Amino acid sequence: AEAAEAAVAQPEQPAAEAVPAPEQLAAAPEAPVVAETPQQPQPEPAPAAEQPAAEPAAAQPAEPVAVAETGAPVQAEPQPQPAETVARPAEEPAAAEAPADQPEQAPNPAPAEAQADEAGSAEQPAAEQPAAEPAAAEEPAAEGEGADLPVEPSPGEAAPGYADAEREAVLRVMRERRDIRNGFRTDPIPHEVLLRVLEAAHHAPSVGHSQPWDFVVIRSAETRRAMHELAQRQREAYAKSLPKGRAKQFKELKIEAILDTPVNIVVTADPTRGGRHTLGRHTQPQMAPYSSALAVENLWLAARAEGLGVGWVSFFDEREMVRELGLPEHLEVVAYLCVGYVDEFPDEPELAQAGWSQRRPLAWVVHEETYGRRALPGEAPHDLLSETVASIRPLDAKALGEAWERQKRMTKPAGALGMLEIISAQLAGLSRVSPPPIPEPAAVAIFAGDHGVHAQGVTPWPQEVTTQMVANFLGGGAVCNAFANQVGAEVCVIDVGVAGDLPATPGLLPRKVRPGTGDLTAGPAMTREEAVAAIEVGIETARDLVAAGNKALLTGEMGIANTTVSAALISVFTGADPSEVTGRGTGINDETHARKVDVVRRALELHQPDPADPIGVLAAIGGLEHAAIVGMILGGASLRTPVILDGVSAGAAALVARAIAPESLSACIAGHRSAEPGHVAALNKLGLRPLVDLDLRLGEGTGALLALPLVQSAARAMHEVATFDSAGVTEK
Ligand SMILES: Cc1cc2nc3c(=O)[nH]c(=O)nc-3n(C[C@H](O)[C@H](O)[C@H](O)COP(=O)(O)O)c2cc1C
Repeated sequence: AEAAEAAVAQPEQPAAEAVPAPEQLAAAPEAPVVAETPQQPQPEPAPAAEQPAAEPAAAQPAEPVAVAETGAPVQAEPQPQPAETVARPAEEPAAAEAPADQPEQAPNPAPAEAQADEAGSAEQPAAEQPAAEPAAAEEPAAEGEGADLPVEPSPGEAAPGYADAEREAVLRVMRERRDIRNGFRTDPIPHEVLLRVLEAAHHAPSVGHSQPWDFVVIRSAETRRAMHELAQRQREAYAKSLPKGRAKQFKELKIEAILDTPVNIVVTADPTRGGRHTLGRHTQPQMAPYSSALAVENLWLAARAEGLGVGWVSFFDEREMVRELGLPEHLEVVAYLCVGYVDEFPDEPELAQAGWSQRRPLAWVVHEETYGRRALPGEAPHDLLSETVASIRPLDAKALGEAWERQKRMTKPAGALGMLEIISAQLAGLSRVSPPPIPEPAAVAIFAGDHGVHAQGVTPWPQEVTTQMVANFLGGGAVCNAFANQVGAEVCVIDVGVAGDLPATPGLLPRKVRPGTGDLTAGPAMTREEAVAAIEVGIETARDLVAAGNKALLTGEMGIANTTVSAALISVFTGADPSEVTGRGTGINDETHARKVDVVRRALELHQPDPADPIGVLAAIGGLEHAAIVGMILGGASLRTPVILDGVSAGAAALVARAIAPESLSACIAGHRSAEPGHVAALNKLGLRPLVDLDLRLGEGTGALLALPLVQSAARAMHEVATFDSAGVTEK
């Protein structure tokens, strides 16, 4: 493992010459970035989300979590909107700080900390759940507890279910139903077959038994051509809205088969059917279209049983469609379906096969009693943090070894790609395949939070700038947006603890744990429960972004006064004096800098944080965005997805993540070296060498975004560069 660590964490070694044999890689399992032992089962290279939930393991007992807000789905793209005015600092920035002169990289083998408790955890990454965070987690109920009403056995026999074979047929059709866009045949659909399918649809449940559906069966080429035209226009509009990394992928996707299918069916909902007093629709008018959607599902399943493929097309402006089809104006269109015989039914959703998205395991979405208490029936509830930590594994020795071997055979002098060879080997070890997948598309997650320590005058910028800059990110006007556009990445903004209120905006994930931390010179920044909740926000963000198809996660952050917090965290985990790791942040003058150093010193004296209790450290002196980045690193590592770290806050968070789960570092790539002295100290301690060194000190994920093309190039070279044998080039 020392060799493996050298391979990843000590990049200055001549790369190819230092290639470790897989046996060497497996030798010392205690370093933070170690290769998986060859004796361990080699799991499928497929990423995490395909796999069932890991068993809960108690690596880090996590506290019950209370979170202020539950979340909305991840929005892929910030919508342009006018950015709010950003306040100016109260004092002019001091002259640019001299570049830090710390050693570029002090190879610093991490302590041989105990590895995460692996008991009961399988190789696969942790189970995940939807983007929203738990609202409340309670202690697991003991066996038999919770049944507060006496339960008498019911008299007589229960109605029978189906015989095994029939039940299996029902479950099979649900498993094997697919949305089909490719491979339709022109064979006509016999009337009796279509009739059976429509009968099944018409048997669907409906609100107040209102049966709000109608089915318009379309066969004419002319109508289908008109509908195809409409869908094509929406497809183009959607493609334009995508980040470049996604748009490339989308170009290859077929999203409708309107012209390839003999029959199209429009399913409508009549919100007025059944009159004014339809039972149940009174309170929830959306129950009418929901009912029609159930008819669609019935239709879809019956069609599958007939060997008919169905493809749902939702690339329409609904009103435009109503007009084009000459439908009565009071109808809603619920579905436009393309139906026909097919060459085959794929085993997996086409979007999953194309790498657009991943299936979420059942264990991510089943909660026991209260939201956030995740448990499958018959299982004990498990908490997200310990489950995530338990599923983090070292780099895969076999893939790592193969990557080094391939580097040697590529048509270039051994080691000539320097650091990039190390990155590509790390990506191979992480993904368990060589050559590793190119980490695209990628998303930068910008976690935003405020800091009570702002009251100590550690920065001239007013606190409301955090809120204002979040609006700027969402409006597309910040540096991170420009860089993200340049490298084709998605920008995702997460309010994990902004003091101000943020209106719901596409691209914003409302996950506020609390509105800003407490002043760490006066008391703890937050409670342990809040620290865990913020970490979980990061884990869930990582999971959501990976399940949505991202192949690289970039950390970003926004929080006025957060370099003070980063300095405090780095001081705790590196042992460096506050004066060595406290920088000038946004550019403060000598007086403010002296105050900032003193604030860090006083906070450390007050709390005496113990680096062996990383969650305690976060609670005492951390920031909500730091905690969320910790979660992002742990989540990314558990999903075997590279995490490109940004600046000093990410460096501080990586120190915390390593203290929680040493192996999490194997997913980390240092995107850049910031001008903050604390960042250099953190990178040295972590043994990570930054890819970009441009004296940036902005945050927002800007350094990580600039590094992304380097990481992608490292992987691409592995795919596209010829080997000496294949190109017929003579070796030296
Ligand atoms: C409400 C709804 C709308 C959909 N719209 C489209 C669409 O416009 N184009 C498309 O290719 N697939 C569409 N789909 C199909 C989904 O992409 C598909 O169900 C999903 O990828 C899972 O694959 P599976 O149905 O094969 O399990 C839609 C599905 C639903 C339920």
